[in-house]
Amino acid sequence: MGTETTSTGTDWRAWQESWDRQQEWYMPDREERFRVMLDMVEAFTGPAPRVLDLACGTGSITKRLFDRFPDAVSTGVDLDPALLAIAEGYFAGDRRVTFVRADLTDPHWTSALPYDTYDAVLTATALHWLHTEPLATLYGQLGGLVREGGVLMNADHMPDPATPRINAAERAHRHAVMDRARAAGALDWAAWLELAAQDPVLAAPTAERFAIYGEHADGDTPPPEWHASTLRAAGFAEARTVWSSPSDALVLAVK
Ligand SMILES: C[S@@+](CC[C@H](N)C(=O)[O-])C[C@H]1O[C@@H](n2cnc3c(N)ncnc32)[C@H](O)[C@@H]1O
Repeated sequence: MGTETTSTGTDWRAWQESWDRQQEWYMPDREERFRVMLDMVEAFTGPAPRVLDLACGTGSITKRLFDRFPDAVSTGVDLDPALLAIAEGYFAGDRRVTFVRADLTDPHWTSALPYDTYDAVLTATALHWLHTEPLATLYGQLGGLVREGGVLMNADHMPDPATPRINAAERAHRHAVMDRARAAGALDWAAWLELAAQDPVLAAPTAERFAIYGEHADGDTPPPEWHASTLRAAGFAEARTVWSSPSDALVLAVK
């Protein structure tokens, strides 16, 4: 796990860490969000959960899951070949995790999974890449994958359209902080991808991910109540926000 450097000379740990720094530039509360997510995993599933790390990227959730619950097992699903290459390099040899390449908007994506059910489906900073209609379909599929008593948690940007002045002020403040950090050398998403494109091992998968997505897919950012009610309609018994920051929320649904 995290054997860091391969025979190709790729330092996977360094890529994993630079991914974290880049994501934190957007979300200073990212670690707290992960901590609360794992607190709720503990509350519902016990110490050895079987987890689906949905739209896993480099495996950020899986990494924190294993740090906290060494007996957990995880399946990471994503479509981005460059982020999956980092995940596979970083976790090479760790039999607790399997990575699957699939498109979450493909009606048959669940057939690629190694298990029929999960104790917890966890996802962060990802489902805003989908429009609400495919996201509602995805929630319906996830309703069938979570075992009775298990949970789904989605942490993402979920602005409330009923509070436009608050949203605008929060956004302006957040972007001013980000601009100062970028002036001091922080990498944004585009700059980070440029760096990946220059890496001899990541260049080809990075070119492939641009062919799939462009810079970023188009999606929606519905408010927490949309997520909660859509999850209830998808077969979850209860759903609500369990954490929020000025810009983000973590919605938990229990089956
Ligand atoms: C910003 S990253 C977040 C990764 C990780 N959860 C984290 O917090 O570090 C968003 C991820 O969603 C994935 N994603 C977006 N749309 C997807 C789709 N239709 N199918 C599979 N993965 C998707 C992207 O490939 C990307 O890895």
